[in-house]
Amino acid sequence: MTKMQELQLLLVLAALVLLSFLSPATSCTEQEKSSLLQFLRELSPDSSSKFSRSWQSGTSCCTWEGIACGSNGTVTELSLPSMALEGPISVSIANLTGLRRLDLSYNSLSGELPPELISSASVAFLDVSFNRLNGELQESSPSLPHHPLQVLNISHNFFAGEFPSTIWEKKSDLVAINASHNTFSGALPSSFCISSPSFAVLDLSYNLFSGSIPAEIGKCSSLRVLKASNNEINGSLSDELFDASMLEHLSFLKNGLEGELDVNR
Ligand SMILES: *[C@@H]1O[C@H](CO)[C@@H](O)[C@H](O)[C@H]1NC(C)=O
Ligand SMILES: *[C@@H]1O[C@H](CO)[C@@H](O)[C@H](O)[C@H]1NC(C)=O
Ligand SMILES: *[C@@H]1O[C@H](CO)[C@@H](O)[C@H](O)[C@H]1NC(C)=O
Ligand SMILES: *[C@@H]1O[C@H](CO)[C@@H](O)[C@H](O)[C@H]1NC(C)=O
Ligand SMILES: *[C@@H]1O[C@H](CO)[C@@H](O)[C@H](O)[C@H]1NC(C)=O
Repeated sequence: MTKMQELQLLLVLAALVLLSFLSPATSCTEQEKSSLLQFLRELSPDSSSKFSRSWQSGTSCCTWEGIACGSNGTVTELSLPSMALEGPISVSIANLTGLRRLDLSYNSLSGELPPELISSASVAFLDVSFNRLNGELQESSPSLPHHPLQVLNISHNFFAGEFPSTIWEKKSDLVAINASHNTFSGALPSSFCISSPSFAVLDLSYNLFSGSIPAEIGKCSSLRVLKASNNEINGSLSDELFDASMLEHLSFLKNGLEGELDVNR
């Protein structure tokens, strides 16, 4: 090869590298862009104006503030904690079919949590803690055979009503639920442990749960942390509860529990 040929080859290679950076494979789709812009439009005008510079429809949404994409350019993360966002969480987010992680914690978002997000076919980590969300937790229908949800943090909101029991059945990857500091009422939920073998953390403190501690919690073979202080739970701590052999932290402060603890267990 002559020096000239070598130089030509080098130029061609450089051009190819450059092209691969610019190729549309690393850019989000128009559908994803429109779902994100729809989310923005539904926020309060003050909130949406915060992104008017970064979220430009002429650019790839993978470069937008708070957005991360996978190697093929699908939006995998929407992370906008502590941005003083106000307004509802648009259901259009559920159209992001590759979204794995959604973090909207520490904002002032209101309205309901779209059921499509809890039962999404892609979302594994969902954190909307420290907002002003209300209503009941609901499942969307029709539901899918499997939901990849692992972590749900809805702590510090205004959610109310009974804690749903059936919506966890298809969430076999579930590891942690933090629903503390809401106004949920009715019986303590306990079905997770049967459907989700790795279920490890359940925080239900500061709610209005009542009734007794379900014995099924003893079947939670991976449960490490169970917090349900500041509720209206009564009855006694059943022996079965201690069948949950991984349990490290158990708190039931400020409830109406009574009876003796068998120290020999
Ligand atoms: C989201 O998907 C639904 C149903 O597929 C569609 O009707 C709606 O227009 C989509 N929204 C956005 C913002 O893309
Ligand atoms: C991109 O990759 C994700 C997995 O990371 C996959 O679910 C999705 O279907 C892929 N999308 C395209 C357009 O290839
Ligand atoms: C919400 O809970 C999850 C799981 O425990 C945790 O990873 C996350 O950091 C929590 N979010 C906040 C804002 O504390
Ligand atoms: C649940 O969330 C609250 C508020 O972020 C936090 O104080 C608490 O430690 C969390 N519970 C667990 C078990 O992580
Ligand atoms: C627990 O409280 C309920 C009312 O909320 C009451 O009907 C029940 O008898 C109480 N059980 C015990 C064991 O105190």
